[in-house]
Amino acid sequence: MSNELTNTNDAGTASDLVAPRSTHCYPPVLDACCSARMMWFDKQDSRAVYYDKRAEDFGMQKNGRVLTVSPDVQGCFTEMPFPDETFSLVAFDPPHMKGTEARLNGVMGRQYGLLFPGWEDVIAGGFRECFRVLKGNGVLIFKWCEVEIPLSKVLALTDQKPLFGNRSGKAMNTHWVTFIKCG
Ligand SMILES: C[S@@+](CC[C@H](N)C(=O)[O-])C[C@H]1O[C@@H](n2cnc3c(N)ncnc32)[C@H](O)[C@@H]1O
Repeated sequence: MSNELTNTNDAGTASDLVAPRSTHCYPPVLDACCSARMMWFDKQDSRAVYYDKRAEDFGMQKNGRVLTVSPDVQGCFTEMPFPDETFSLVAFDPPHMKGTEARLNGVMGRQYGLLFPGWEDVIAGGFRECFRVLKGNGVLIFKWCEVEIPLSKVLALTDQKPLFGNRSGKAMNTHWVTFIKCG
């Protein structure tokens, strides 16, 4: 379902979404790697464009629930098909766990994705693209679960300076970091 709209919203057709037309009115928010949109209060919120490199359904082993990854637009966050300065807010929640053989088909790997050798360049490219498509004074929310890779190592992959953040989760290891695009 690459480049196909899968929900009814105000965003128009997929080709409208990726057309680099300055007259096109995009929704104000981009979720740059949406997965199953677990963090969204309303998973069909029409104020956002949902982007991910994959589209698939998969069963969760414990409760049997099927999760759906169904982006409006499919592609890599290191090269997004949106014009410069399009969105007022970008959410960037990339994979945070290193890929191992055992994890390739595991639930966590399927839900959150995995990092492979060279991941630093991928995350750095993602930051660059997120800031490119962000409007001036737009806000980037970066989410990082610090289970294997320290937040400081990942923040070093962008030259943008974070404003402030918050920690969540039982072990308080999920960081929500806020940036603003100045200049
Ligand atoms: C941690 S999950 C996002 C979870 C999501 N915020 C939620 O609430 O469910 C990371 C997602 O990034 C996607 N991803 C990984 N590498 C990507 C890339 N290079 N471009 C676009 N999406 C990517 C994965 O497919 C995965 O769905």
